[in-house]
Amino acid sequence: MSSRAGAAASSGNDVVAQARRRRSFAVISHPDAGKSTLTEALALHARVISEAGAVHGKAGRQGVVSDWMEMERARGISITSAALQFAYRDAVVNLLDTPGHADFSEDTYRVLSAVDSAVMLLDAAKGLEPQTLKLFDVCRHRGIPVITFINKWDRPGREALELCDELTERIGLAPMPLTWPVGEAGRFRGVLDVTDGSFVAFERTAGGATVAEETRLAADRAEAELGEDFSRAKEEWELVAASGGEFDLAAYLSGTATPVLFGSAVLNFGVRHLLDLLVDLAPRPEPRTDVDGNDRSLDDEFSAFVFKVQTGMDPAHRDQVAFARVCSGVFERGMVVTNATTKRPFATKYAHQVFGQQRSTVDVAYPGDVVGLVNASALRVGDTLYAGKPAVRFPGLPSFAPAHFAVARPADLSKAKQFRKGVEQLSSEGVVQLLTSETRGDAAPVFAAVGPMQFEVAAHRMEHEFNSPVKLDRLPYSTVRRLADPAQRALVDAGRNSEVLTRSDGTDLALFADDMSMRLLVRRHPELRLENLVATG
Ligand code: G4P
Repeated sequence: MSSRAGAAASSGNDVVAQARRRRSFAVISHPDAGKSTLTEALALHARVISEAGAVHGKAGRQGVVSDWMEMERARGISITSAALQFAYRDAVVNLLDTPGHADFSEDTYRVLSAVDSAVMLLDAAKGLEPQTLKLFDVCRHRGIPVITFINKWDRPGREALELCDELTERIGLAPMPLTWPVGEAGRFRGVLDVTDGSFVAFERTAGGATVAEETRLAADRAEAELGEDFSRAKEEWELVAASGGEFDLAAYLSGTATPVLFGSAVLNFGVRHLLDLLVDLAPRPEPRTDVDGNDRSLDDEFSAFVFKVQTGMDPAHRDQVAFARVCSGVFERGMVVTNATTKRPFATKYAHQVFGQQRSTVDVAYPGDVVGLVNASALRVGDTLYAGKPAVRFPGLPSFAPAHFAVARPADLSKAKQFRKGVEQLSSEGVVQLLTSETRGDAAPVFAAVGPMQFEVAAHRMEHEFNSPVKLDRLPYSTVRRLADPAQRALVDAGRNSEVLTRSDGTDLALFADDMSMRLLVRRHPELRLENLVATG
């Protein structure tokens, strides 16, 4: 179907109305905080439309797979689904997966460029953990509003007040609790709903496999029945409210404050409230700004950008799936779009084969939705796709602060040409970042990555795709900053455990063995201008 026909099928009003129904978000958390459990619990409340943006009916618990990697393994295919889509109330919710665990990588961060908001999931016993902090940093940098869900309240953990303080003190995010726990973690009785002062009772349902009916008590009855526990909760909440914890929508949307809920994903407590908040408060898709600074209206013709490319690790199937977030217009399967980078056409007729045997079909998608395009070997992370005229190009995706570094050398010196070609290609796709310096020379560039799994992917592709096996020697750096003044390069290079390398985007990165060696150098040279590096571009 041509894009013209597609545009005719849905009027502009329709597109805007559909876009307004979308809530596209990701869960940011540290491994084991309960992300998979929460995903399943969310889906229990929802009518599941599809996975990866498909629009076919699949309801109930069965078939809702929250552990994407597991699903890949079970199906023996090397693609990771990018989004789970479901209907809730009148909204269409897109939950985008942020890979964690061993596969934490730049991809995890890039997913955050495709969402409009995030849910920060904390374990009540652990509070803010390293991976959560890194992901939160990206949300802050990109201005993505965050709702906080404090999980595992059904078992012993830390005090609610202490967890709220941690948000303020460690990340400068003002907590705005919308519920407050009654009875401490482990002896949890329910929550105070601060919007009307009522009490919502916590009931243990068998494994959280069903959605329990909610039991509510008005404030006075709760006071009488729960006594000390309830008055204490009220006092604590008042303390938080007095120190600026009253709900403020603008503060949430601007990313300076976060609504907080307490619950238990595994027992499905607080999950419906979370969904309601997402639907009521979370931002909807907005027009995206192109490289020229113009907004692409939601009801313009179709446009999207690729935020993730998954390449089959099996050389026999050079399958490549590109996941794109729709920014404007209607995506209709079969339409031919243009890749703004190469100016070449791209046919989307295989948009339906994302899930191998499961064959979920993306027939139609609207702004905020994710489409998975297979046979997409011509597409790269950051590419813009559009239909019709005029052309549009969105800014490329940023590079993130790497934490792992390795020198790459061809294992077979006669393959120097293939080596160079492969290295350039992997860098342009964002598989790894490429760092060089005059001292090191071109023959042994440094690969930099957010997660070590990026090295594995790079090494595998160098060998199987570019026919140039590589040797990777890890460098002992773990702290990185941007060197603001190139003239100060020599100061860093002269340090014992540090050097400056230039990234392919031109950023000078100062690398240090650890924080201590960086601080020592700064003490010796207070004039050294080092900047934190979250994202660039
Ligand atoms: P992740 O995707 O963030 O890594 O976490 P996942 O959902 O796999 O949950 C990690 C562990 O935490 C699981 O336990 C899960 O059951 C448990 N969990 C999740 N939410 C809650 C909650 O609200 N309360 C309690 N008490 N536990 C929760 P596990 O022992 O690793 O697995 P399992 O044997 O329970 O399946």
